[in-house]
Amino acid sequence: MPAGAVIGAQWGDEAKGKVTHFLAREADYTVRFNGGPNAGHTVKDGYGTARLHHIPVGALHPGCVGALAHGVALDLWTLRDELTALRAQGRPEPVLRFSDRLHLILPQHKLREELGGSAQRIGTTRRGIGPCYEDRAARRGLRLADLADEEAVRSSLQLAVQELGACGLQETLSVEDIVRELAELYRQVESRMGDVRAEIATALERGKRVIFEGAQGTLLDLDWGTYPYVTSSSTTVHGVGWGTGIAVTRFDAVLGVAKAYTTRVGEGPFPTEDTAAGGEHLREVGKEYGTTTGRPRRCGWLDLVALRYACRINGFTGLALTKMDVLRGLSEVKLCVAYRTGEGRTDVFPTRTGELMEVEPIYESLPGWKEDLSRAREEDDLPRAVRSLLAAVEGHVGVPVRLVGVGPAEEEIVTLE
Ligand code: IMP
Repeated sequence: MPAGAVIGAQWGDEAKGKVTHFLAREADYTVRFNGGPNAGHTVKDGYGTARLHHIPVGALHPGCVGALAHGVALDLWTLRDELTALRAQGRPEPVLRFSDRLHLILPQHKLREELGGSAQRIGTTRRGIGPCYEDRAARRGLRLADLADEEAVRSSLQLAVQELGACGLQETLSVEDIVRELAELYRQVESRMGDVRAEIATALERGKRVIFEGAQGTLLDLDWGTYPYVTSSSTTVHGVGWGTGIAVTRFDAVLGVAKAYTTRVGEGPFPTEDTAAGGEHLREVGKEYGTTTGRPRRCGWLDLVALRYACRINGFTGLALTKMDVLRGLSEVKLCVAYRTGEGRTDVFPTRTGELMEVEPIYESLPGWKEDLSRAREEDDLPRAVRSLLAAVEGHVGVPVRLVGVGPAEEEIVTLE
């Protein structure tokens, strides 16, 4: 797979970090193309648990370059703290590249998110992601390369503070402090900044292996997700071209990552949510608490209507079904195969949020299992009940399952032919 994308097929937190880390053992580059530190990718390896918000997970492998392409919203303070945490674990310094066109998340973005109410209304991660992308679209953002011009930085910040002044908040931000901190942070990344698009394009021409690591998931995509309860970037495979400048004709494989159940953080419709014992099992056994915010995640059953929709949007060539081990011990495993609406049964994922709020899931029930899956590495190691579940998923969505997650550790993964 010279060029492959790993894309979330649900509402984020599908364990893309673990899957990307597994695939990146043989990669030359891992590239983030969308989102910012709202993402929380967790990897467990010999050094301990790494919780990454900015650094591409592949960069934890020596020999794999981690690149942040221009579609990412970059918080230099978070990046600095993340690098410090990796060093404290005794890891080798990751090799990183930063696009000079990266838009920066600045202190005013976090303030604006609170003031504008989206933090509460949508239940955002409060990382300033939305306001950063707003400034980008309004053509008043600051890009990484712009930090070379201190006067331009100062006047851009002064303008932002003046605007906040209208809300009585100008004292909260000191322009001179931010200018000074940014200058210092810039010095730390300057030598690794450049034309990431050109570097990746050249690497692909030379036959290097590149993984594009998606953040969030298809149902949080600004256009294809459950609008307005979405993030502010392009989270699907279409975001790879948008956020890197690499043509989609370059891709050999697009792997969709979905949990064997469903979770969501923040507000918005979630047809298969289970607020009773089933959901409680998934949250506690699956440790479903946000990596970025610590919030308990809403939990429910695998929604094959939504998954089929994600498969169509992204053209997945294969699926990774993660956290299968979490379903162990349940007497039955439910799969949502269609929705019931006022007009009858449908397998179409609705555009209108109000409609999605009202659909009733139609479930198929499969038997559970008691066997421990953590040592399974091939299809034959999986109990019959798990194989039936995989067959049911493939039958409904029409995409083959290639990987199955059977535990949190790096090697706890089953590869299917
Ligand atoms: P924002 O991306 O912080 O603007 O938040 C918008 C919505 O996306 C909220 O519902 C968040 O909880 C959700 N969200 C953003 N990033 C992630 C993620 O990495 N995993 C899961 N949900 C996320």
